[in-house]
Amino acid sequence: MKTPLNSSNLQITKNPSPSRPRPNDQLQFGKTFTDHMLIVEWNANEGWGNPQIKPYGPFSLDPSSVVFHYGFELFEGMKAYRTVDNKITLFRPDKNMKRMNESAARICLPEFDGNELIKLIGKLIELDKHLIPQGEGYSLYIRPTMIGTSETLSVVSPDKALLYVICSPVGPYYKTGFKAVKLEATDYATRAWPGGCGDKKLGANYAPCVLPQLVAAQRGYQQNLWLFGPEKNITEVGTMNAFFVFSNPNTGKNELVTAPLDGTILPGVTRDSILELARKRLDPHRWEINERYCTIFELSEKSKNGELVEAFGSGTAAIVSPIKEIGWKNEKIQVPLSPGEETGPFTKEAAQWILDIQYGKVTQGNWSET
Ligand code: COI
Repeated sequence: MKTPLNSSNLQITKNPSPSRPRPNDQLQFGKTFTDHMLIVEWNANEGWGNPQIKPYGPFSLDPSSVVFHYGFELFEGMKAYRTVDNKITLFRPDKNMKRMNESAARICLPEFDGNELIKLIGKLIELDKHLIPQGEGYSLYIRPTMIGTSETLSVVSPDKALLYVICSPVGPYYKTGFKAVKLEATDYATRAWPGGCGDKKLGANYAPCVLPQLVAAQRGYQQNLWLFGPEKNITEVGTMNAFFVFSNPNTGKNELVTAPLDGTILPGVTRDSILELARKRLDPHRWEINERYCTIFELSEKSKNGELVEAFGSGTAAIVSPIKEIGWKNEKIQVPLSPGEETGPFTKEAAQWILDIQYGKVTQGNWSET
């Protein structure tokens, strides 16, 4: 019988030199880490070993470990928040656990009981809770990661793996804060394709995306916009899901649009949250909410007709990121912003919906776990 992941077997070695919290203005996304990390080893014969929390630090791996050669790596991004009444909460961690197990299954790494990992993450953040910053936009970014550690150059299903969790106190993802960005639509590279693994959170999906972002940056854009296929369907923006608001002159309604989860789109937790809240909170006489394909040609046409109302990206790191312009070949597709603001009204409202729940101002079902 193989041992399942079991949080009650946790062993804790405390860091003898705990660090002090940094002032919020010194927090950069993913640059500094808390005092402890969680690690759990797995092997195919015995299953999961005893979880261990120990001082944050390097670990040693054999250079032949499969993670270094064949990309056996997956990760999650989730956050712990210090709420307005000073509680520490996780935002929808069950969603991250489900996606992490789906990523693991896709690259032959071991699956685990997500509730047990949530309990272990709870113990980890409890130890370092003095390092969780306070204030809207500030949180503890949690990075659960799993790698294949079998020592072999054969391309096989790993018989050894390491699950670990590190945490980084963070401020706003973009140094510029909540400010509309300019995107370049990438027409020479594809992020994901049908039958591929673009809907899994694998490191291998991210490294090839950096070059198009650098190319976009050289031309003065903060991010790139991913398109797919001859139709040029808009799929994602940088590492985020993409949302658009259109006005429909025929129905007199606004339409909130994001790409459908067809296997090429990462099932973002923020994406799902915005859709669910929009379906609950927006007036159906004034709004339609659609998960549907939208091409760059449709966007261009709607912008010319004055029917492109807003655009934004959504993700765990930045939550919501307003978009003000999209470069597409020789065209600059303009997205309106509210007068004197760096966002459109719905983008601002959607960001506030999420922030109010994350910081405990509003309760939404069981989305916040203490
Ligand atoms: C997110 O915003 O959720 C991301 O995936 C970004 C992360 C890779 C830094």
